[in-house]
Amino acid sequence: MSATRIESVLAWEALDSRGNPTVACEVRLAGGANGTATVPSGASTGSHEAHELRDGGERYGGRGVHRAVAAAAGELADAVRGMDAADTAALDAALRRADGSPHLSRLGANAVLAISVAAAVAAASAEGMPLHRWLLGGAAPLLPMPMVNIVSGGAHAGRAVDLQDVLAVPLGAGCFAEAIEWAWRVRRATAELVTARGLNAALVADEGGLGPALASNEDALELVAMGIERAGLRPLEDCAIAVDIAATQFQAGEGYRLAVEDRSLDAASLVELLGGWARRYPIVSIEDPLGEDDWEGWRLAATRLGYLQLLGDDLLVTDRERVERALDEGCANAVLVKPNQTGTLSSAAEVVDLARRSGWATVLSARSGETEDGWLADLAVGWRTGQIKVGSTMRSERTAKWNRLLRIEAELGAAAEFAGRRTLAGRRAAGG
Ligand code: PGA
Ligand code: ZN
Repeated sequence: MSATRIESVLAWEALDSRGNPTVACEVRLAGGANGTATVPSGASTGSHEAHELRDGGERYGGRGVHRAVAAAAGELADAVRGMDAADTAALDAALRRADGSPHLSRLGANAVLAISVAAAVAAASAEGMPLHRWLLGGAAPLLPMPMVNIVSGGAHAGRAVDLQDVLAVPLGAGCFAEAIEWAWRVRRATAELVTARGLNAALVADEGGLGPALASNEDALELVAMGIERAGLRPLEDCAIAVDIAATQFQAGEGYRLAVEDRSLDAASLVELLGGWARRYPIVSIEDPLGEDDWEGWRLAATRLGYLQLLGDDLLVTDRERVERALDEGCANAVLVKPNQTGTLSSAAEVVDLARRSGWATVLSARSGETEDGWLADLAVGWRTGQIKVGSTMRSERTAKWNRLLRIEAELGAAAEFAGRRTLAGRRAAGG
């Protein structure tokens, strides 16, 4: 272990893709290897997520992360100095002990995650391996099916529509590189349709998607469905639609408020609406159809829409206990995994394992505020999550992840296994 012993931690305040401050750090090991990591940040953040520590006050409008940076370089560094960077479980446990609060609110999940990831990157480097191979520990790598953002709304596009993402899932692609090319075609074709309607297709949303102001939410689905056909792809067989409703964002009182359509719905009518969309469009996956604490609505969604992948983001927040509750109550059949919702690599990996053992699908996800780091791509291959959601085919913080996966696929050559449609939950994706 001497080569992978942690010698020091350097931390600093960097900027994310929205221009907001975020925590970056470098973990340096006794053998001379080092690893850096910059952490992402969400906008449609669930209230049950691990705590992102921000300074408040004047700097950066209160969004500065000097306190989290000081924690990373101070208390957290003290807690891990001398430890083995290759022992992720022990390291993450030490970070959690040092913080001492249930949601990492004292020192910040942003500080904790930066060290957790940087230590793994450093350990892999010390052992002369790419991060995904180090994580695999001898298992076979799996290139994930991408979910690619085509039209954005909600908190990522000035609420152009209420739903947050309409994404392309290139179910019929034979490899990761082909999947990305197909998604690119869908984005381009959809952009042409947007332009033809006299709307602006040049401006991009937070995750690189188109963000046209449409008259209804269904218009966004219709555009992407038409984009798939215009791209020369067969709906469902070649390319399907995934949608992130992000319903927590438009919960109002006991129900839900669709602002662009000026109408309010209760949970049952929202599920009914989604069911109609699923009948009319080639949808295979629905994320956050109901709000983050609407367990009853989620149960109803699972009963009515269980033939689709029902993906929990704000409901589950990469939290083992919330996933266990959803398993008990029969809500969802897939979990979105965002490492910064939980704060450490080990706790995120634990959620992936639990979901997989329970027959659920797993989708690794970036945040709307991202960085040029590519480590998320290695996690998808190394944890064999089967699916990944990173944003659109443009903006460098998005392409950093796609490009990393393209390189991994090229390096693996004939040994590269692509997840394909079978990794989605729900029989619609499987059936084509
Ligand atoms: P966020 O959005 O990173 O802004 O939370 C991503 C998502 O909801 O999937
Ligand atoms: Zn989401």
